[in-house]
Amino acid sequence: MNNIQSYIEAHKDRFLKELIELLKIPSISADSAYKNDVLKTAEAIKTSLEEAGCDSVEICKTDGYPIVYGEKIIDKNLPTVLVYGHYDVQPPDPIDLWNSAPFEPVIEKTDLHPEGAIFARGACDDKGQMYMHVKAMEFMTSTNQLPCNVKFMIEGEEEVGSKNLSTFVKNNHDKLKNDVILISDTGMIAKDVPSITTGLRGLSYVEVEVTGPNRDLHSGLYGGAVANPINILSKMIASLHDDNNHITIPGFYDSVEELSKEEREEMAKAPFSLENYKKALDIDAVYGEAGYTTNERNSIRPTLDVNGIWGGYIGEGAKTVIASKAYAKISMRLVPHQDWEDITQLFKTHFESIAPKGVKVKVTPHHGGQGYVTPIDNIGYQAASKAYQTTFGKTPIPQRGGGSIPIVALFEQELKSKTILMGFGLDSDAIHSPNEHFGIWNYLKGIETIPHFYKYFTELTKQ
Ligand code: BES
Ligand code: MN
Ligand code: MN
Repeated sequence: MNNIQSYIEAHKDRFLKELIELLKIPSISADSAYKNDVLKTAEAIKTSLEEAGCDSVEICKTDGYPIVYGEKIIDKNLPTVLVYGHYDVQPPDPIDLWNSAPFEPVIEKTDLHPEGAIFARGACDDKGQMYMHVKAMEFMTSTNQLPCNVKFMIEGEEEVGSKNLSTFVKNNHDKLKNDVILISDTGMIAKDVPSITTGLRGLSYVEVEVTGPNRDLHSGLYGGAVANPINILSKMIASLHDDNNHITIPGFYDSVEELSKEEREEMAKAPFSLENYKKALDIDAVYGEAGYTTNERNSIRPTLDVNGIWGGYIGEGAKTVIASKAYAKISMRLVPHQDWEDITQLFKTHFESIAPKGVKVKVTPHHGGQGYVTPIDNIGYQAASKAYQTTFGKTPIPQRGGGSIPIVALFEQELKSKTILMGFGLDSDAIHSPNEHFGIWNYLKGIETIPHFYKYFTELTKQ
């Protein structure tokens, strides 16, 4: 694979141009106004997989957005790598906070990316990272260096819970049969500190509604005499954490796996600067569960966060009113062994039980998924580790991630294979936030590293 560097050098302008074209299509899965754009993106992915050398590519219909599936089977006796990624993106709002239009990609230099970074919604999560695999495939097929079989499965509903992909996976065991699953949809510690994500958190996402009086009331005539749903909701939410920032839902921690002292010591070796962390976010202190470090709080510990809260009058000026209803959207990040459906039930029971008389409470579960951990003694991890050693000159650090890709646990359950998370993004890439970007260096480094994974994985499988 020595010539991967010269191949990238010769083709990098085109690699960038192609990604930029893909980023121009606003494939926002959460907003039905963009339906045609999401479908158009699936077509674009199909074309790029064909151009990269897949033999058969199909757009598989689902009850929601389609799954693009492509494969190249060179020899049934060789191992098969299944690549997963997603072509849908998060909504870009708040639009006002973007320095450039979210679907008109621009290249700008930043302190961390002196080579330039592409600014656009989806640049890192996940179009840019998914497209690295397409370009790595192009390199391997066009230079006759593909060492094993490849299957691509790129979906359009990851950001809204992958419901239809679950059904597709359950119904297509044979088609999706593989020896390892490879995903680039996470990050790494720093450009000079490569890392491989060995865990993802699970998720339970719920919406709550508190109803007081049957209509909005004058806050002078009725204030103080009836339960104000917004006051009550605020109190109920505040009570979900105690003074140590532990979550107060009975049974919430019952199945949480406590890491051993040794494991925690190992984790603490990963380079991390609390000062830089605070500086990057412009905060004067971090905040979280007592007894745990920042990196533990955002990876091996479960959390509960309000993602949105509304009700009453939020227009210009003042209106004296007691709203009839108040709402909040709440996410709980879970760790391995916590079952997301059990946790959703515990939340519902508890939240209903703490509602005072005078209000009604409704809890509606949205979606969720199980967490995931992978040991590092499997061939997939070893192959990935060797690939990073080759292209970064350093052994990557195993790191548990804080985000969720719920389909990964389902892959293990249904397809019985392990997933290797080779992420090339940085925490500062602002995924889901305004000004999302992906470093050109990271993009090209990903394309360079991936073919080595294929080579080492095939070699290690033969041994
Ligand atoms: N790519 C992210 C997940 C991620 C990012 C994991 C960085 C680890 C590090 C993915 O697209 C995502 O945003 N997932 C959602 C969950 C989904 C069910 C909406 C999340 O984590 O909020
Ligand atoms: Mn993603
Ligand atoms: Mn995402």
